[in-house]
Amino acid sequence: MKTRITELFGIEHPIIQGGMHFVGFAELAAAVSNAGGLGMITGLTQRSPEDLAKEIAKCNEMTDKPFGVNLTFLPTVSSPDYPGYIKAIIEGGVRIVETAGRSPEKYMPAMKEAGIKVIHKCTSVRHALKAQAIGCDAVSVDGFECGGHPGEDDIPNMILLPRAADELKIPFVASGGMADARSLVASLAMGAEGMNMGTRFIATQEAPVHQNVKDSIVAASELDTRLVMRSLRNTERVLVNPAVERLLAKEQELGKDLKFEDIIEEVAGVYPKIMKEGTMDAGAWSCGMVAGLINDIPTCDELISSIMSDADALIKERLSNFL
Ligand SMILES: Cc1cc2nc3c(=O)[nH]c(=O)nc-3n(C[C@H](O)[C@H](O)[C@H](O)COP(=O)(O)O)c2cc1C
Repeated sequence: MKTRITELFGIEHPIIQGGMHFVGFAELAAAVSNAGGLGMITGLTQRSPEDLAKEIAKCNEMTDKPFGVNLTFLPTVSSPDYPGYIKAIIEGGVRIVETAGRSPEKYMPAMKEAGIKVIHKCTSVRHALKAQAIGCDAVSVDGFECGGHPGEDDIPNMILLPRAADELKIPFVASGGMADARSLVASLAMGAEGMNMGTRFIATQEAPVHQNVKDSIVAASELDTRLVMRSLRNTERVLVNPAVERLLAKEQELGKDLKFEDIIEEVAGVYPKIMKEGTMDAGAWSCGMVAGLINDIPTCDELISSIMSDADALIKERLSNFL
């Protein structure tokens, strides 16, 4: 399938694996890219630019296809060494960066000078337009359904995607709630040039996470996510578990007085415990409503190949039969 996204990134299929903390290691990024999609290493999961350089080198050993690095710009006071991470990306020969969180404006000149294509992930049309204005090559439009941080506007993709299509000149992919050929074809119909998936890629053979994580996604239904940290304006969609219930009780009790320190036990340092050790109740971890559509743990190649062949059939048979 040829779209502006496959052309922009030099990939076979318009399917991107979004950056995921403690999931987006070389193993997954390479598997997605080898299957013809675009895999993404998560930059900040690597503790230093030196570690990121090693992870990029590892991924370069595992695939000769294009892959990218996610750089999440956090709303924290003590900023990670972003210039160092960007240097590691450039020196590692990576030419695609997925930015997310705060605006990447400050770092655009350095990335553009190095010939990097930037896809910014955002949750509103106004942020997508800002990304376009500062020179991003594409955007990932992340709807309210998404796993992780859906922003504070709560606009689902059925509205957000056509709104983005009406306003944007640069190509965009649909993100949040994407799982299969139906997601891809619907996204294309609404003006996107492909799709970005997070949660779906965790439940794959190659995702380097504990089996318990994959099993809990397969077991979950679309009713099993919760929104946490809304009062801190840092809303996150997570899979429900006892730690999340505890967190929500504190949010309800403290209301506007809630501070990050009140919930530190439920949110800080949780990812290695969940993703590596499989201690599923260790705290709150991002997961999309799309868990309700995930019933198997295929290889990335099986997943992407079946999405593309099912999409073909969906367009040629189901849709064209309506005409
Ligand atoms: C476990 C997990 C961790 C994530 N970590 C990050 C991250 O560090 N940076 C980022 O930009 N997005 C992160 N995301 C968001 C994904 O890249 C993607 O935008 C989102 O999962 C799309 O929604 P979906 O899960 O419904 O496919 C994460 C998502 C999950 C499920």
